[in-house]
Parts: sequence; C-alpha cells; structure tokens
Amino acid sequence: MRAHMMAGREIVVCHTREGVFALDSVCTHAHARLCEGRLRATRLVCPLHGASFDIRDGRVLGPPAEVPLATHQVRVTDGTVEVALSGPAPV
Ligand code: FES
Repeated sequence: MRAHMMAGREIVVCHTREGVFALDSVCTHAHARLCEGRLRATRLVCPLHGASFDIRDGRVLGPPAEVPLATHQVRVTDGTVEVALSGPAPV
C-alpha cells in the first residue's frame, strides 16, 4: 500500500494479486489513516478500531464503520499507476 496526496485528498493505492485499486485513505468511522492499516488480500483493515473495507468497491466488510469508502478508477500504463479521482472529497 502507498498513500498519495491528490487534490488535497489522501488516496491509498493497493497493489494486490487481483490488481491495483485506489480508495480514499481516511476511515469513514473516525478518520484514521487507512494507509497505516493492514491489507489482507482485498480486505483493508483500519488501524484504529478494526473496521474493514473491500478495496474493490469500498463496501464495509466489518464494523464499526457503516459508510463505504470512495473508490477511484485506476489504470496501469507501462508500469505507471494513474488514478482518476471520483467525485468531490467527503466532508
Ligand atoms: S477510525 Fe477506522 S474503525 Fe474507527
């Protein structure tokens, strides 16, 4: 996992056997940095209270988070990862 700032927003890029995925790096529960969490296959676990998210679509897999993460389109071109942000940053 790597975190990057894009347009004032922290994005976490996850490289897995299933591909490369990009999501907002701020947990929807209480704003922990998910880039400091653990990645197990396609499950991203928050380092603060343990909520987990599916990095493929951002859905919540485990509490206490209830709101999914924003996901972003990824394209890999000649080894370069390109991310297209989707929508505005959450408030
Ligand atoms: S801040 Fe992520 S689960 Fe609480």
